[in-house]
Amino acid sequence: MSFVITTPLYYVNDKPHLGSIYTTLICDTISRYKRLLGEDVIFITGVDEHGLKIQRTAKEKGVEPQIHCDHISNIFRSCWNDWDISFDKYIRTSSRNHESIVYEFYRRVKNSDDIYMGVQKGWYCVGCEEFKDNPENSSTYKCPIHQKNLEWKNEENLFFRLSKYQSQIEKIINDPTFIEPKERRNEILNFVSKGLKDFSISRTNVSWGIPVPNIEKHTFYVWFDALLGYISALSSDNNNNLSLEKSINEAWPADIHFIGKDILRFHAVYWPAMLISAGMKVPKKVFGHGFLTREGNKMGKSLGNVLDPNLLLSKYGKDPVRWFLIKDISLGNDGDFQDKRFVDIINNDLANTIGNLLNRTSSMSRKWFDNKVPNIDKICFENKLASLSVITVNDYIKNLNNYKLDLAANNILNFAINTNLYLNDKQPWILIKDESKIAIVEEIIYNVLESTRIIGLLLIPILPELSSKIDEQLGSIYKDDKPWCEQLKWGRLKTNTQLPKPKPIIEKLEYE
Ligand code: MSP
Repeated sequence: MSFVITTPLYYVNDKPHLGSIYTTLICDTISRYKRLLGEDVIFITGVDEHGLKIQRTAKEKGVEPQIHCDHISNIFRSCWNDWDISFDKYIRTSSRNHESIVYEFYRRVKNSDDIYMGVQKGWYCVGCEEFKDNPENSSTYKCPIHQKNLEWKNEENLFFRLSKYQSQIEKIINDPTFIEPKERRNEILNFVSKGLKDFSISRTNVSWGIPVPNIEKHTFYVWFDALLGYISALSSDNNNNLSLEKSINEAWPADIHFIGKDILRFHAVYWPAMLISAGMKVPKKVFGHGFLTREGNKMGKSLGNVLDPNLLLSKYGKDPVRWFLIKDISLGNDGDFQDKRFVDIINNDLANTIGNLLNRTSSMSRKWFDNKVPNIDKICFENKLASLSVITVNDYIKNLNNYKLDLAANNILNFAINTNLYLNDKQPWILIKDESKIAIVEEIIYNVLESTRIIGLLLIPILPELSSKIDEQLGSIYKDDKPWCEQLKWGRLKTNTQLPKPKPIIEKLEYE
């Protein structure tokens, strides 16, 4: 069975920003981790191209929506390539394949008698592509997320009978493993407890959408169409005979949908009900992460503080940004990107703690032991670092299995800090002066190099680039035929391995 993980399908009204990078990096880290465990992973990402928001953006730019979508979709794809995102499927909702899946799905839902024509009245946020609850409580009639005026809609739409699924949805969300984190789950429990209302799934004023069969002027509501992208992605490489059944057999249901907290309702309530109606399984988990802010402020074009991923990439490189976003933000909580804090964390954790540990130990080993890993007679399994490595690996695995990425990153960092302390405590540079202590020094240096080997291996899913630099500095030893989990065991560093001349694995950053 494959492990299916998804990012949201990003709106193509604009190019990627740090928020989109954030979710994608998280999914990339988890995908890399699962692959290391030997699992078959299907990592899905892509773009959400229909709807009023995109239609208007294209109009403002004076181009046809499809041309606009082609352009931005390419930007997203090449951004993911630049960031070395290991996605397996990239879905575009304006593709023909996707359209045929939407039709098939619609037929199923219709056959379940879950579609009817009704009148939709309400206040709509085009930014969210969503009707807002009780805006009459708001004196401003503005969307709290986009800070833009809501628009009044009153039109004939097709509706989906969400209310019919009240008890089934309650059952699903009552399972504590379905929605994470806990606080987000409570929001949804509260929302559902008020009673589910049917929602409209077609529009009459939006030409940029998938036409509803046999109903003139109606296109599918962008969310009804977009959520199905997760399914059509599964058979997107299969150009012939594409069918819903094929996609389902390929790997449905998804193991986890990673999304921002603002779109949890769609994924944890509307989507499962749509799937049940179509006779399909519901995703196993929906994880709603927090929002990123910049120096304490919401990021926005009007505020001029949007972090452009391209700029970050050229200024700092991939791994520092990955480290900051993964290690400094507890998944689920909001996180703030502060330049000073970013530079301090990278310099402390990666340059001073991990980089320096490797650099100085490899230099000592080269100097004292003929450019090699010391040739100790017997690997010592009973020492502080060996025991700590076992605890670190166990905690790290447990944390990654529970999507506690920040804790897993901190497990690695703490191991590196303790390895530095061990080195400072043992002071091999003093012992080496005494001929009779050479064997002790050999053992100390071996132990520290062995710890850095394990640190590098643990870093593979989080910082793939830095980890391969650690590997290079240790004499390119990670290409082992043993599975990764086996390689994490203490004592696999071969004595006498040639150590190349040390180069800093990461440059210190300057705070401007
Ligand atoms: N197109 C829909 C998703 C459809 S999924 C079938 C959508 N797109 S979006 O581009 O507006 O948002 C994509 C994701 O980015 C959402 O999960 C949203 O929460 C996330 N983020 C947008 N701004 C963000 C931050 N500032 N910080 C973190 N994530 C943020 O919604």
